[in-house]
Amino acid sequence: MKHFISIHDLSVDEINEIFELSARLKKYLKEGKEHHYLKGKILGMIFTKSSTRTRVSFEVGMYQLGGYSIFLSSNDIQLGRGESIQDTARVLSRYLDGIMIRTFSHKDVIDLAEYGSIPVINGLTDLMHPCQVLADLFTIKEMKGCLKGLKLAYIGDGNNVANSLLHGCAKTGVDISVATPKGFECDSPVIEEAKTDAALSGSSIVLTNNPAEAIKDADAVYTDTWVSMGQESEKQERLKVFKPYQVNEELFSLAKKDALFLHCLPAYRDYEVTEGVIDGPNSVVFDEAENRLHVQKAIMLKLMGDFKDPV
Ligand code: CP
Ligand code: NVA
Repeated sequence: MKHFISIHDLSVDEINEIFELSARLKKYLKEGKEHHYLKGKILGMIFTKSSTRTRVSFEVGMYQLGGYSIFLSSNDIQLGRGESIQDTARVLSRYLDGIMIRTFSHKDVIDLAEYGSIPVINGLTDLMHPCQVLADLFTIKEMKGCLKGLKLAYIGDGNNVANSLLHGCAKTGVDISVATPKGFECDSPVIEEAKTDAALSGSSIVLTNNPAEAIKDADAVYTDTWVSMGQESEKQERLKVFKPYQVNEELFSLAKKDALFLHCLPAYRDYEVTEGVIDGPNSVVFDEAENRLHVQKAIMLKLMGDFKDPV
């Protein structure tokens, strides 16, 4: 693993290693056991979009691993004034041991990795949110004991989170059903990549416009905001189109009785999900948010650690 840009780039073994390391790091933290495996390492964190969870979990994670992190808002660095991503990559590679970036264009993340000489982690683009989805799958595995053979239903916008869920489920053998309105489907090249991976893992991919069909007998139900960062001007139109895709008590009752409810957060209650579901007994949204920390620490250790198996 040189970078972490898309789940599709990882092997099944690498995903399992990340999950195993995440579980160990989580245990060490709960036991109060020091785990300074990135002592002296420095992570730069470029943000051209807002963040609560990603920023705090990477910053806290780096500190817990004995390293240091620098928050680089695009409002403050020259990237925001037109310095190229190529030059930014070359310069930052002279100072840092790794870069986490959250931005609009997925190509910028690929360029950062190509022109720099240090590991790059994708902290969300318009196309993908791979750190989120590894934490989601880790959460489901913790709760259900396994992944292979489970069914996950994603209801709503075919956005960055949905694209990464397609990748993640296909790799790990989770059957995935995605229900989106017409015109808001997942990215076509991502769907093709996921189909290739699903053929290897033996999982199924169902793409539909019917939320009731997608959610039927699901073990895990997932939704995300109808208005992602950068789509604010489309808000009124989107609220109308997505209304039939709200995950409410009636729709959720079609899933299995013990189905988990997941959401990457931030959530907008009474839009994509009702209070009864997100604050109900099946919701694991805060475990999911916590697991961002443990899983990203494992990813950083894999990419920036000097040793193969430190723990
Ligand atoms: N889920 C997620 O990435 O949250 P933030 O936008 O707060 O980082
Ligand atoms: N799809 C959302 C995810 C936020 C974590 C967005 O891109 O804004």
